[in-house]
Amino acid sequence: MNWDQALRILQPSRTGSPASDSVSRGFPALHRSHAPSLCVASGKGGTGKSVVSAAFAALWSETGRTLLVDADLGVGNAHLMQSVQPTRTLVDVVRGRASAAEAVTPCASRLDLLAGGSGVSQMASLTPGELRLIAEAVEALDSRYDMLVVDSAAGISEQTIAFASASDLVVIVTTSDPTAMTDAYAFLKVLFARRRDAHVDLIVNRALEEEEGQRTASRIETVCQRFLGRGVRFIGSVPDDRSVLRAVAQRRCVITTEPESPAAAALRSLQRSVAEELVQIAHLGLGRTLGASCGTVLPR
Ligand SMILES: Nc1ncnc2c1ncn2[C@@H]1O[C@H](COP(=O)(O)OP(=O)(O)OP(=O)(O)O)[C@@H](O)[C@H]1O
Ligand SMILES: [Mg+2]
Repeated sequence: MNWDQALRILQPSRTGSPASDSVSRGFPALHRSHAPSLCVASGKGGTGKSVVSAAFAALWSETGRTLLVDADLGVGNAHLMQSVQPTRTLVDVVRGRASAAEAVTPCASRLDLLAGGSGVSQMASLTPGELRLIAEAVEALDSRYDMLVVDSAAGISEQTIAFASASDLVVIVTTSDPTAMTDAYAFLKVLFARRRDAHVDLIVNRALEEEEGQRTASRIETVCQRFLGRGVRFIGSVPDDRSVLRAVAQRRCVITTEPESPAAAALRSLQRSVAEELVQIAHLGLGRTLGASCGTVLPR
């Protein structure tokens, strides 16, 4: 299936089968279907989640209205790659100072950001009630967008696992660094314990050569199969590329600053692969699923 075919299927699907799929999974009947959602996560910090999610959001915004959700509620920094300075964030939503719509920052044509917030340390450890408010905000915005991309926080907190398990598809970004691989595995272990049937893809970032990406993915796959009883889908690598450093220095995304660079080309190919996969799976509604999961969050 090529990209154009995928797009044609993706758009009508918002009024098609996802609703019946979600009913069959035990959710209440929907009045409409939902925007597809993708969560870019890792385990270890600094592996490239924000680079990947900014690129994916930019690419999706070429064809549809896209919301980038910064789910790092302690030191959210997704805005740094969008050249914007949000005046309202999810912190304001949780504190009752802003509605969901007021917390949205326009970034580019068809690309908006729901910023995470920073400097409010307790936001990194949300209570179930606070997480529910965020879920309601995301749900309130869902119908305005064709795609939701979540830039996850690092680590394996309740909050990061909740966002990942509520998303239709999770993309794990690792590097070949052994600690990044170990943390990716640890994230997957907790994610699968929460949601055994989670759809998960794997990207190896900053690969020095294609074989390095494949070796890294193969190690993670082997350990997951052996100890978790299931694998993840390796969709490819992003090369270590100075174009990414230059884009970050300009507070922009490499897709817009250097679209012909090796990193941008790899990210474009990976986003197509992810988009094609999303066509095949049910879109359960990120906010709705996150809200439903709040009822199962253990009290702190
Ligand atoms: N493919 C790449 N080539 C070169 N440098 C890269 C690449 N990907 C990421 N980087 C560098 O790594 C830095 C960290 O990337 P990024 O901010 O996306 O990580 P993160 O996983 O979002 O971090 P955090 O966990 O703190 O949110 C970037 O600022 C950039 O300097
Ligand atoms: Mg980040």
